[in-house]
Amino acid sequence: MLMRMIIDSIKAPLLPVDMKDVLMTPALLAKDLTVSLHGRTLVHGINLRLEPGERLALLGASGSGKSLTAAALLGQLPSEMTAKGELQVHGQSTPLNRRRPGHGNLAAIQQDPMTALNPMVRLGLQIGIPLRDSGLSAKDAHQRAIALLNSVGIEDPERAANSFSGELSGGQLQRVCIALALACRSSILIADECTTALDVISQAKVLEVLTRKNKNKPAILFITHDIAAAAALCTRAMVLHHGRIVEEASMADVLAHPHHAYTQRLVEAAREGFGSLHRRGGSDVVALPSAKAGAA
Ligand SMILES: Nc1ncnc2c1ncn2[C@@H]1O[C@H](COP(=O)(O)OP(=O)(O)O)[C@@H](O)[C@H]1O
Ligand SMILES: [Mg+2]
Repeated sequence: MLMRMIIDSIKAPLLPVDMKDVLMTPALLAKDLTVSLHGRTLVHGINLRLEPGERLALLGASGSGKSLTAAALLGQLPSEMTAKGELQVHGQSTPLNRRRPGHGNLAAIQQDPMTALNPMVRLGLQIGIPLRDSGLSAKDAHQRAIALLNSVGIEDPERAANSFSGELSGGQLQRVCIALALACRSSILIADECTTALDVISQAKVLEVLTRKNKNKPAILFITHDIAAAAALCTRAMVLHHGRIVEEASMADVLAHPHHAYTQRLVEAAREGFGSLHRRGGSDVVALPSAKAGAA
């Protein structure tokens, strides 16, 4: 037995890369994902692989197809659109066009949290719904909701739990939405421009919550046109341009050697606007290099 383990451990690093790919089940795998509307293709054959716990940025200008990609992955495309291709969630084939229940492995964090929350129901009760569904009593669900609100950095979680969405700021509501996604025990978060509408301080708080190390950290597809926010959160990036992936690399490579003209403009603009962004999330997150240090 011991000998077998030693042989296996010696053999493991020699596995060809393709073989490792086969052995590791990605959290999310989309192959040749295409979205069209009345015969017009809006998203052209995207291939996307998100590993468990990985944080991947999907960058692109307005109109490049980011939200349609997110909607296709979530099964939330408008009914007049068609999605083709293959989708696997934790290795399970998942139909693209069928609407899927919200409390699954996939959760969305939208740009406008107000649309995701019911304004007539106290926030603690809303977070409690998936917790009750998972078998907790009303009292335990309330306690757990408060603990989750606390874990996403809401200062007075008891008060927030008893509030309605209209009583909290945009930044607080985004964190409530993250608490809701965590309550659903979603292992994959698709965050579409979830920091775009926020002021810088709220943005930083949301990014801090998303990068926080916890035992069951979800995989995150972070959709944005803000490369500085993406650099603070993600370790890998894909760039979407006119519905096509034009660049895909580690975040460090995208920042240091942007290839596509759009990516180069993004990096340049971020350098002019921010200078250098410091590490916010942990050792696996890169800093945006300054213009002098950059090799672009
Ligand atoms: N409901 C819709 N009807 C028609 N065209 C749409 C619709 N939604 C998006 N589009 C078009 O699809 C393209 C990609 O849109 P979208 O994914 O929302 O871009 P992004 O999120 O990157 O800003 C755009 O050209 C947009 O005009
Ligand atoms: Mg969008």
